[in-house]
Amino acid sequence: GGLRNYKFDVEYMIQKPDCIEEIVMGINGQFPGPTIRAHVGDILHIAVTNKLFTEGTVIHWHGIRQNGTPWADGTASISQCAITPGETFHYRFTVDKAGTYFYHGHYGMQRAAGLYGSLIVDLAEGKKEAFHYDGEFNLLLSDWWHKTTNEQEVGLSSIPFRWVNDPKSLLINGRGQYNCSMAAHLIKTTLPQCKFELGEECAPHILQVDPNKTYRIRIASTTSLVSLHFAIANHKMMVVEADGNYVQPFSTDIIHIHSGESYSVLITTNQDPNKNYWISVGVTGRETTPQAFTILNYKNIPNSLFPTSPPPFTSCFGGYNLTKAFTHKILALKGTPPPPHYYNRRLLLLNTENLVDGCDKYAINNISLVLPSTPYLGAIKYKINGAFDQNPPPDNFSADYDIFNPPLNPNSKSGNGVYTFELNHVVDVILQNANSLNEKNISEIHPWHLHGHDFWVLGYGDGKFEQGDERKFNLKNPPLRNTAVIFSYGWTALRFKADNPGVWAFHCHIEPHLQMGMGVVFAEGVERVESIPGDAIRCGFTRNIAMNKKHN
Ligand code: C2O
Ligand code: CU
Repeated sequence: GGLRNYKFDVEYMIQKPDCIEEIVMGINGQFPGPTIRAHVGDILHIAVTNKLFTEGTVIHWHGIRQNGTPWADGTASISQCAITPGETFHYRFTVDKAGTYFYHGHYGMQRAAGLYGSLIVDLAEGKKEAFHYDGEFNLLLSDWWHKTTNEQEVGLSSIPFRWVNDPKSLLINGRGQYNCSMAAHLIKTTLPQCKFELGEECAPHILQVDPNKTYRIRIASTTSLVSLHFAIANHKMMVVEADGNYVQPFSTDIIHIHSGESYSVLITTNQDPNKNYWISVGVTGRETTPQAFTILNYKNIPNSLFPTSPPPFTSCFGGYNLTKAFTHKILALKGTPPPPHYYNRRLLLLNTENLVDGCDKYAINNISLVLPSTPYLGAIKYKINGAFDQNPPPDNFSADYDIFNPPLNPNSKSGNGVYTFELNHVVDVILQNANSLNEKNISEIHPWHLHGHDFWVLGYGDGKFEQGDERKFNLKNPPLRNTAVIFSYGWTALRFKADNPGVWAFHCHIEPHLQMGMGVVFAEGVERVESIPGDAIRCGFTRNIAMNKKHN
């Protein structure tokens, strides 16, 4: 593999993602940040300079497992100290698996502020995918507010609590339509027709294709809050990849994608070449945010020619049943490593909404995560016991907990203890969903993302996980992923091998939920971690150790 050098300056910029001027967090003057493209085996060196005025920053490489480089995972308080304004941090890591990934801020709510971009890993030079395609497109989906993330964060920790509410618009590669619809003349809506010039800053990126070719479309979601569905009018999509792993190909009209997930689909441009076609992205389960559109343009006709038939899935899209059905179709491609048929340790993690000192929070087995000021990696490696709670959080929750009703005792506490695994142990995690804090019949969905590993998704179930439910686990062809959803009142079972020395976040990828404490911290084999750069630990209780290390 080769070495690829990037220089990233993180800064605030004035931009119009959905034609309304706002402040966004960008990189090198771009929003979304530049796309990183590498081959399997390459070493990426990304020098990230914090050009913000008053806040720290870090960048996480979502889906990259960081084998041997846990200090480069880019999680503030977990793998490193936040980079202070004016400082530069050098990320160095190998990309060892082809796939569709992305990167994003992992400090406070900087992802929602716009700190993200794509990271695509191609097969090693000379190697070919098992499926053929003539060209490819890369779509990074996100949601957007007209409120700074600072304001959002303050609201989330206030009494009375202020929720972020629904996004103002959805963005496709950083561009969206606020308070207007490109398809207003074709659908039932009160929204006016959008008026932008093609080529304008907020105008959509149009996908230009030749007729009778096959294209790979990479779709990743870095939304702060919402789950999305994605469709291309008149074109079937063949799903071939999920989260950087090959899946058993299947054909679909619609992709259901949650925050933290990615897919590759193949389309064939075999439709009437004298027409253009809608590409639409909509919110699942909420109805206030309008769809975002762009256009699939058959090159021989002008791209300014709007499609004449209505876009797919314009009507209200209630519930998650279709999303569930879609998720169940994701199965590993033959040849994917199968899961071990045993586990050494099982965690049963109850997801609840709670009150901590009167504030609305999320808790896992009754503990709401508040990150410590000294990053775990250095604290564990150098055995600094005062840096975080030395008592591990509980492995399970009380068997008589009623998941269908608001909690009897709504109070929980905050904590920062760690689940420590023996290196190479097989860990099962059963995520259990429950009723929301106040309202009966509401159980939010949560896409859980694991750092440092892929996991096998062994199964999903409705209601409470019971003894014996493991008989329903799929041990034959469960998909390998890094993000998996728990549906309303349901459970999701994951299995992974704790074979990557380091400290790893495992959390709900909905940014306000993580902000409200919806995460846990895993650690394994930290004593084996070598050469943590001084810059990664130059804060909190590890500052002095960093001072004694030679500068690197
Ligand atoms: Cu993409 Cu810890 O997140
Ligand atoms: Cu969540």
